[in-house]
Order: sequence, then structure tokens, then C-alpha cells
Amino acid sequence: MRFSHVLILVTCFCAVGSLAGNSALAAIEGGDAARGKMLAVEDCLPCHIQGAEAGTMTPISKTQRQWVRFFEKDRHNKIAPGSWDQLPEQDLKDIMQYIYDHAADSDQPATFD
Ligand code: HEC
Repeated sequence: MRFSHVLILVTCFCAVGSLAGNSALAAIEGGDAARGKMLAVEDCLPCHIQGAEAGTMTPISKTQRQWVRFFEKDRHNKIAPGSWDQLPEQDLKDIMQYIYDHAADSDQPATFD
């Protein structure tokens, strides 16, 4: 096999690898949604109730895809720096699970009620 062929092969494997990586991130899985709902009410809603400066936020504020991107890109930390700093990683994961499971385009769209 010529060197250029080897290079093409390596490129293909890398492309497949990164595609697989992306699809793994296309869903939020493994968190405890029931726990996440309670935590979100305690940890998110104080800033996100109707009339509050940060505005209302519920699972149906976004689609599942939009939520994945929102969390992946750490967008909250850019718009409201530090506001999630006290949240243990597992708590955030559970919150994300509830929000994702009940997003606007999910099987069971829901708010925090
Ligand atoms: C300390 C207050 C505070 C807490 C706690 C908080 N947020 Fe926010 N959040 C904000 C502020 C401020 C904004 C920006 C509002 C604006 O400028 O419109 C925001 C914006 C958002 C947005 C809209 C951003 C967008 O571009 O769509 C979402 C979604 C959001 N927060 C989710 C959450 C979630 C989920 C939690 C709990 C894990 C949470 N927030 C906890 C203050 C907070």
C-alpha cells in the first residue's frame, strides 16, 4: 500500500470516530429525572420564575437538540457567569435529564408543575 493510501484510510477512521462521538452527545442519558425536577425547582427556579430578571425557563423552552447544545456549549456560564458554580455535577446531570426528557419536542413535554 502506498503512503498516500494509508493517509486516506487514517482520515476516514478519524471522521467515523468523531461522528460516533457527536451522536453520543446527541442525547442526555443516565441522569435521575425525578430527582432533577426537584433540584431544578430548588436551584434554577429562584432565578427563573415569571417576572424575575432571568425570565421564565421550563423544559419546553427548548427542543431536545437545543438543550443538548445549550449544556454542551456551557452557554449559561457565558450569560450568567458563576450562577451554576455551587451545583454538584451529579445534580446538574439530573436536572439536565429532567429538562431533556420533557423538552418541547419530547414524548412528554412538561414544565416544572
Ligand atoms: C443566580 C441566578 C440564576 C440561576 C440559579 C440560574 N439561572 Fe439561568 N439564567 C440566569 C440569567 C441572568 C440568565 C440570562 C437572562 C437574559 O439575559 O435573558 C439566564 C438564562 C437562562 C436560560 C436562557 C438562555 C438561552 O439563551 O436560551 C436558560 C435556558 C437557563 N438560564 C437555564 C437555567 C437552568 C437549567 C438553571 C438551573 C440549573 C438555571 N438557569 C439557574 C440566571 C440564573
